[in-house]
Amino acid sequence: MENIIKQIEDKYKALGQNPETYLKGLLHAKPMNYWEYVQVDALLNLQNTRTDFSDELIFIIYHQVTELLLKLVKHEIGQIIFSDDINSDLFLEKIERSNRYTEILNSSFGVMSKGMNYEDYNKFRLSLAPASGFQSVQFREVEIYTTDIINLVKTEFKEKATSIEKSFEYLYWLDAGLDRRTGNKSLTLLQFEEKYLQHLINTAEKCKKINLAQKFSKINNTDKNYEALKNALRKFDYLFNIRWPLTHLETAESYLIEKGIKRDATGMSDWQKYLHPSYQRRIFFPNLWSEEELKNWGYFII
Ligand code: HEM
Repeated sequence: MENIIKQIEDKYKALGQNPETYLKGLLHAKPMNYWEYVQVDALLNLQNTRTDFSDELIFIIYHQVTELLLKLVKHEIGQIIFSDDINSDLFLEKIERSNRYTEILNSSFGVMSKGMNYEDYNKFRLSLAPASGFQSVQFREVEIYTTDIINLVKTEFKEKATSIEKSFEYLYWLDAGLDRRTGNKSLTLLQFEEKYLQHLINTAEKCKKINLAQKFSKINNTDKNYEALKNALRKFDYLFNIRWPLTHLETAESYLIEKGIKRDATGMSDWQKYLHPSYQRRIFFPNLWSEEELKNWGYFII
């Protein structure tokens, strides 16, 4: 006890503060409880449905769950890329954590694919246009934290992507919201760019020398964790860029196709083509895959 009080005294003295004030403050402070710490009331007040269909609640909550897990993925990757002296043990630990979060996203997607009434979904979703999961900025931030921006540029435009800013005109995900012949952008894309484009360009500038792919390239291939790290990064690439997209696409197909006829999505993309990983070819670590694997992107399991 004495030792702790001494440490408290030292802490506040070092800050130029009177320790007695803080000790008296402790005396009056209310004990913590679960609901205030976790902010349960605030959390449970964030589900504002736009219709009276009861399954809309599931749709909102599962999107929120996804955003929280994406925040955790970003949190882990952020600790690697924004640290000056990350060692390979910590690097590996944080990628394995990111993989676990992404696995949760994949294994829980049944909440969406099986969990909503088909007819009701196809009614309440019309009240949400032109909003789309496509507008998830955290999804794009994970990409930018993880790989060089050139890996997010469509293959046929790579030569034109001469700077970060220019690359943003040729990103793969513009295919969901831009008619490249007319140059017309969908409202979903216009809204997203107005809110986030500059932020994403700034993030890409900030991450260009420190993103995950860059950090991994600095790890010596004689490092004891090199092989494990390589496999963990391959796994992350697979989970985020093949497994999740396929699960998500299967879900979209189960709700948006009726008797073989494809319905428009709220974001108005040519979604069945766009969402397939073999079309997007979003590959974070192309150097870690064989020619064969790259050729079959989207069609293999690891
Ligand atoms: C019934 C459930 C769902 C359906 C039918 C669906 C449908 C679609 C469609 C059609 C697109 C293409 C853009 C558009 O035209 O709107 C899209 C994109 C997207 N959705 Fe969903 N979605 C569903 C659930 C979710 C959930 C739960 C999330 C989690 C946040 C999500 C995140 C995304 C993301 C990140 C994209 C962009 C993907 C990319 O660019 O690769 N979606 N979704």
